[in-house]
Amino acid sequence: NVKQVIGREILDSRGNPTVEAEVLLENGVTGRGMAPSGASTGIFEAVELRDKEAKRYGGKGVKKAVNSVNTKIRETIVGMNVNDIYKIDEAMKKEDGTDDKSKLGANAILAVSIACAKAAAKSYHMPFYQFLGGISANILPIPMMNILNGGAHASNTVDVQEFMIMPVGASDFKEALRASSEVFHSLQLLLKEKGLATSVGDEGGFAPNLTSDEEAIQFILAAVEKAGYEPKKDFLLALDAASSEWKGKEKGQYHLPKSGKDVTSYQLIEHWEMLCDKYPICSIEDPLDEEDWEGWIAITEKLGKKIQLVGDDLFVTNTKRLEKGIREKCGNAILIKPNQIGTVSETIEAVKMAQRAGFRTIISHRSGETEDTTIADLAVAFGTGQIKTGAPSRGERVAKYNRLLRIEEQLKENAVYGVKEI
Ligand code: PGA
Ligand code: ZN
Repeated sequence: NVKQVIGREILDSRGNPTVEAEVLLENGVTGRGMAPSGASTGIFEAVELRDKEAKRYGGKGVKKAVNSVNTKIRETIVGMNVNDIYKIDEAMKKEDGTDDKSKLGANAILAVSIACAKAAAKSYHMPFYQFLGGISANILPIPMMNILNGGAHASNTVDVQEFMIMPVGASDFKEALRASSEVFHSLQLLLKEKGLATSVGDEGGFAPNLTSDEEAIQFILAAVEKAGYEPKKDFLLALDAASSEWKGKEKGQYHLPKSGKDVTSYQLIEHWEMLCDKYPICSIEDPLDEEDWEGWIAITEKLGKKIQLVGDDLFVTNTKRLEKGIREKCGNAILIKPNQIGTVSETIEAVKMAQRAGFRTIISHRSGETEDTTIADLAVAFGTGQIKTGAPSRGERVAKYNRLLRIEEQLKENAVYGVKEI
């Protein structure tokens, strides 16, 4: 049972404050959880509580959320059994009382939810992925590595937020990581040769000034070849447009903030179709806005058989929104971010609903991360087969990849790499 819960304010990878929670059980076992934080957050996400005290951390302090942990949440869960993570999460949700967790803060609730689940796993002397996924959990995810950053994650001229490589031809996770790292370094050399910037964005990918998304794709394909790999066979490409950041004047209208272009839903769909015909792209995330359900229906009809269409801001790991998406045939995959919904158990429910409906699932980091590697374990536990956790650069991204290396080693010959088909 829970003996004590402690919250504290720590820093995330952008140097902004975030919440860490530690639980101590009566048996002496401890568990720790940290909340990540997004930059291109969806409007339907659970709310991270920030102090808005302009003089402290530019208003981004999380003293209030930490206080939630040290008062209300502590009072609620001390004495409870951590083995039933659903009960713990339910108790915190009830204490919060809002739909979006804005009272106690989703950042406070998630940190505690992770800390409790981790402590429960430790009490059973089980690795976290096995505690959640059972002893048969053995699928290592294909990384979707964001090696070129744009949008809200970089101060360059590129509107599409993420250009990712997926090492689909690798035999195991370790080889996938090696090949991806080689491509990352080839890209660095190519950019250098052209006199372009090789400093990195929030998710560890390069953030050069380029004139179009096609130019970014061409650079990446050249980097794949330069590293000795074959596009399509060894590597597929994935994009995250994060187009909810491109809100235009009206619904169905888009304004690309960096290039200054104005386009309609229909034109965007045509553009994505053109890119998919021309390049080995197997997945596009948030190709359309979080409220453009009609556009989503149209693009799913057009491209849903050919590629993976991933709802991130559209679904926000929320079963209510996902249910609507499944019903109306919007997209065919969901990005799973625990802090969009705020508890481990609701994250599990979103994954289950998606998997039942034949939607693919991708576990994901946030652009503001910590050294917490929980998502690596979640990917293996749920057998998602795909994970999005940035470039093979920046400690907070690499920490997740290194955790996956250790899991693969632990699973020995039982480890299976990736999903059969993207
Ligand atoms: P965010 O971006 O963490 O800044 O929201 C990640 C994503 O859009 O997938
Ligand atoms: Zn996204």
